[in-house]
Amino acid sequence: MNTDKLRREYRVHKEHLLEQNAASDPFEQFERWFSDAVNSKLDLPDAMTLATATPQGVPSARMVVLRGFDAKGFCFYTDYGSQKGKEIAANPNAAIVFYWRELDRQVRSTGIIEKMTSEESDAYFASRPVSSQLAVQTERQSLVISGREHLIEGFQRVEKTYSSDVIPRPPHWGGYRLVPNLFEFWQGCPNRLHDRLCYTLQPDETWEMTRLSP
Ligand SMILES: Cc1cc2nc3c(=O)[nH]c(=O)nc-3n(C[C@H](O)[C@H](O)[C@H](O)COP(=O)(O)O)c2cc1C
Repeated sequence: MNTDKLRREYRVHKEHLLEQNAASDPFEQFERWFSDAVNSKLDLPDAMTLATATPQGVPSARMVVLRGFDAKGFCFYTDYGSQKGKEIAANPNAAIVFYWRELDRQVRSTGIIEKMTSEESDAYFASRPVSSQLAVQTERQSLVISGREHLIEGFQRVEKTYSSDVIPRPPHWGGYRLVPNLFEFWQGCPNRLHDRLCYTLQPDETWEMTRLSP
């Protein structure tokens, strides 16, 4: 299939991404853009692609949901024994990408992933809807299973097991935090003259801002 017809021009935006207007702290810049995405009522502004890799450098990528960020990093939750969990355990280097199409904006970040504390994971698990808590108990993520019935039966089984109890967080499920050492903010512009501002973490913990050619 030829996809040439889908080619599109990027819109003119009110503001360019200029060094003098961008925050000197990339987390602050991320907060500005994330707030813009949320306030623009975009669908899934918190969805991000997470790329991990084996120690041999074989990559894999999938979507996850951002469940909070602060000056320490970007948080998400998953099964520690999933493919991503195994890769992170063997190689903590990872990358995330956000794409907010309606704003013609992309944010990339790379860094090191660390496990969140069990207290943080417990608190988040307790805040989830009961159906999501049960789903985590049903089956381990990324295992090969015999069919859909396996999931339905498993869900019904755990529903009975925990019908009147508080559902505990299984130890294999919890949070990770990507602690960034690099950010890139990309703003699409007409004529492919896009803005790309990079922030690279320096040995003294400050961030150096550079502009890359689009
Ligand atoms: C929009 C979207 C959000 C998702 N959010 C999560 C998430 O927060 N955590 C998660 O474990 N999987 C999430 N998934 C499913 C993952 O993409 C993936 O299928 C799953 O985590 C297994 O990945 P793995 O086998 O590479 O470890 C999401 C999928 C989509 C499409």
